[in-house]
Amino acid sequence: MREAADDEFGLDQLLQACDWTDQAYVAGAGLELADAALVRITENESKVVHLGPTGESAHANGLLEVRLWQWLSNQEQTSRSIADLNSAGFDKSESGPGIGLLKKLGIGLERGSFVVPEDESEIVEIISQRTALIEALATAGDAGVDAVELDSELIEHFHSRSGLIIIEEVTSRTWSLTEAGRRLPESELSEELVIGEITPELLHGDAWKNAQYKPYDVNLEAPIPAGGRPHPMRSLVERIRSIFLEMGFTEIEGDFVQTAGWNMDALFIPQTHPARAMQDTFYLDEPKKIPIDDASLDSWADVHERGGDTGSRGWGGIFDREEAQKGLLRTHTTVNTVRHLHENPGVACRVFGIGRVFRQEAIDKSHLPEFHQIEGIIHEESANLPMLVTTLKTFYAKMGYPDVRVRPAYFPYTEPSLEVEVKWRGEWLELGGAGIFRPEVTEPLGCSWPVCAWGMGLERLAMLVLGLDDIRQLYQPDLAKLRDMPLL
Ligand code: PHE
Repeated sequence: MREAADDEFGLDQLLQACDWTDQAYVAGAGLELADAALVRITENESKVVHLGPTGESAHANGLLEVRLWQWLSNQEQTSRSIADLNSAGFDKSESGPGIGLLKKLGIGLERGSFVVPEDESEIVEIISQRTALIEALATAGDAGVDAVELDSELIEHFHSRSGLIIIEEVTSRTWSLTEAGRRLPESELSEELVIGEITPELLHGDAWKNAQYKPYDVNLEAPIPAGGRPHPMRSLVERIRSIFLEMGFTEIEGDFVQTAGWNMDALFIPQTHPARAMQDTFYLDEPKKIPIDDASLDSWADVHERGGDTGSRGWGGIFDREEAQKGLLRTHTTVNTVRHLHENPGVACRVFGIGRVFRQEAIDKSHLPEFHQIEGIIHEESANLPMLVTTLKTFYAKMGYPDVRVRPAYFPYTEPSLEVEVKWRGEWLELGGAGIFRPEVTEPLGCSWPVCAWGMGLERLAMLVLGLDDIRQLYQPDLAKLRDMPLL
């Protein structure tokens, strides 16, 4: 290199000059010279165009639009219809795309027949350009043609058609001596063997003992191995689960299919009140009705009509037992905690559950018809509001959100009712509801202690954790994006 100091070297010349054959080895040595500021490396990115598989067959048989055009130009004015395409040898896989290509060339369709414009010169010109490009690429063969030498619009068009052409991104490097490299006296240069790869042959002998080794460069760019990983939502659920478990909670589950009775009536949601429609419910045809035991229906009827023994006046009117037995997809996971209380009324508990719920919502950046809630209750003699607020604050602090505030809210089944908000990037975001179950809820269940309850949105929390602004991104099967989402 020093002998031809003004020259720039490509990889081939370097290989020749060093008398080595291993490209990676030579390129690596060049990189080291560059690190020592003796050599300058110039990189040049280019795009090389090759024929794709469809392009190969277009070269052999003609491009689809070229064949169609030949056929059209040979036909009598009267028999240029779509129906004729088939008998002319264009099968279904060709006639569909073919009609599209002809339209783009300015050939119209009138009552099923092709209409060629008066002045054909433009079409003829395009046809010959396209044929020439295919021809040029076929001639270039494996070497391909540098994209800068080709018509960019035509390349873009061909690239949009599947398999016609392949565009290869190529980086070529040139090495040249720097001033310092040129000035370095010959006497300071010596040839040394530095081992970059340890082989069994090397280890079998003694040479390794006194050899010089190339140090590892941990800053070099390397491909990131894409192994399997849990879906980010899975990891988030696991993390929430472990937080509640370490806070002493037990996990519960429930079915997606429930009754209006357990999903709403047991929660003292009035049967005729708009609050019922507030949660746009998916009612089921199959099962349309799920029987509920009379004892439950009786106690709900009593509480809804007259307030039962709670001192409440209830909602008045007549409680509809048929309405209560309607099958539906649960609209919130509060149905799980209520059923748990019904089955264990006299047992103190701290339970939680993470589950899917369903509501008729139009999909947009903040709504999905299926989403998940993080639900929980504390049922014990001394349960109270400060305990509820502290529990939620502790949970969010463990999740990494120490700023939590609660504000008054309304739910038909809690009093007092709270809205839970978390501070994120300077803004307060509502993440869920909470409160103390009303006596109208706990009395029919047979519970005599207070119950702290909450239900929070999982997806909303996930959006915070993953830094997303569109809820749909959580469930799009975009592998590249999923791979790049932070590990929890
Ligand atoms: N079920 C309420 C919802 O879906 C949340 C909630 C649960 C509120 C428990 C209070 C108590 O929004």
